[in-house]
Amino acid sequence: MEVFNTIFLAIFLLFASLANAKVHEHEFVVQATPVKRLCNTQMSITVNGQFPGPTLEINNGDTLVVKVINKARYNVTIHWHGVRQIRTGWADGPEFVTQCPIRPGESYTYRFTINGQEGTLWWHAHSSWLRATVYGALIIHPKEGDAYPFTKPKRETPILLGEWWDANPIDVVRQATQTGAAPNISDAYTINGQPGDLYKCSSKGTTIVPIDSGETNLIRVINAALNQPLFFTIANHKLTVVGADASYVKPFTTNVLMLGPGQTTDVLIQGDQPPSRYYIAGRAYQSAQNAAFDNTTTTAILEYKSSPCPAKGGANIRPIMPSLPAYNDTNTVTSFSKSFRSLRNVEVPNEIDEDLFFTIGLGLNNCPSNFNSNQCQGPNGTRFTSSMNNVSFVLPSNFSILQAHKLGVQGVFTTDFPTKPPVQFDYTGNVSRSLWQPIQGTKVTKLRFGSRVQVVLQDTSIVTPENHPIHLHGYDFYIVAEGFGNFDPKKDASKFNLVDPPMRNTVAVPVNGWAVIRFVADNPGVWIMHCHLDVHIGWGLATVFLVEDGEGLLESIEAPPEDLPLC
Ligand code: C2O
Repeated sequence: MEVFNTIFLAIFLLFASLANAKVHEHEFVVQATPVKRLCNTQMSITVNGQFPGPTLEINNGDTLVVKVINKARYNVTIHWHGVRQIRTGWADGPEFVTQCPIRPGESYTYRFTINGQEGTLWWHAHSSWLRATVYGALIIHPKEGDAYPFTKPKRETPILLGEWWDANPIDVVRQATQTGAAPNISDAYTINGQPGDLYKCSSKGTTIVPIDSGETNLIRVINAALNQPLFFTIANHKLTVVGADASYVKPFTTNVLMLGPGQTTDVLIQGDQPPSRYYIAGRAYQSAQNAAFDNTTTTAILEYKSSPCPAKGGANIRPIMPSLPAYNDTNTVTSFSKSFRSLRNVEVPNEIDEDLFFTIGLGLNNCPSNFNSNQCQGPNGTRFTSSMNNVSFVLPSNFSILQAHKLGVQGVFTTDFPTKPPVQFDYTGNVSRSLWQPIQGTKVTKLRFGSRVQVVLQDTSIVTPENHPIHLHGYDFYIVAEGFGNFDPKKDASKFNLVDPPMRNTVAVPVNGWAVIRFVADNPGVWIMHCHLDVHIGWGLATVFLVEDGEGLLESIEAPPEDLPLC
């Protein structure tokens, strides 16, 4: 019997390692759940009653099948942030872009395969402000048998940075939509759902991250905050960055990270300090001048297992607090972002078929004549807006753009998104008030399959310059250069890194500056590119690339799933 079992086990293990691509099936029940934070209980929308939601752990090459059942009172969709979704654009998730929302009581099954991506991604709701509480980590390990390109860590810990309102986030955004003013700022930041010791009624729940002397551990940091780029640091411990947005980078060491919402950064830390307790901390990087922001600090505790045990008073040892950069410390952000290189030399598209120049920034709409003053509480009786190339993006409401494209439905979108700003001006200078009000539209950029695309993302100083985290769905792109002021094609092209630029899905475009990204449009479908500050998405800081099918089945998007929600 014993022998038989051993043989059986050996055969089983052999098959398991041969057929190593797995299919992971999950059920996500979206539902209202009582969550107590900052002394109050909110009926938060969660997945499976968990906040943050479940961590999905898979290997590169695996397939995810996630049935989302909407038991909440809001429309919802789930986006798999950073997953390329090659040929499976129907599973991408942004509402009215690749699907209509899942209505209360309905469900939809997302099916997709991870191909050639390793590291840390995440998933989140892509409907209104639901992602304030509907989010979780998506961890992609190397294929079975493959190793990390760095020391194998002893422990791995995901750190999800979040943003918490002592209110229903949906009410917060609705109020802002009614008044035209900026939405209320958050009341706390969180680490794995917990604000930490510096907030009222929070110490009990503070997240503990274990480490032991001599260990090398991997910390997977995800900025899931709704509206705030964040600095991140750990007292007395160096952070060795080894990956970002599920792409490896040449390791470099730093004391502090900055992540725009949407970005992830994988760091190695060493257990090389006296066994004790050290604060892990996050707080705002605020690049917009004179704008209200949440200036609080979230903390977790890095705790050495060999530190004096709790019974002897170890849990009462006050952790060591790190220092964090000043809120407006753009210099630290610049030197951090300049440190990123791809792990190896890469093939960056050299010739460019589509040379695009997109301004990104805020704006103000004059109060429409049928609005009363309560509806125009932005600066000087206006309403806040936002745009790319002077087009403030409006989502359709009766079809998704992808459906309209595949079914040939007219009137849902137009394909005339401008390749450059309609008027050239000193983007980062003193901009004439006559250029502050964009037009509205659902305009997309059509791309031929396989075209080589360059986009210059140029911040404007309209209303205020700001560091905007620009996220592209369906692709990773190379960031070939970044700078301040106005992009100058003659001078700045010579600074392009075409050897080992970092690959990302979200670029934090420097405040009052620009970033240049390149990608090959080899994934057919409809892909939104937007600022990952949710307040700006609502105002229209988004656009869409429509990538046409190429030749044959393998260059075409798959047929839509039968349970795709219709509007
Ligand atoms: Cu993480 Cu369109 O978003």
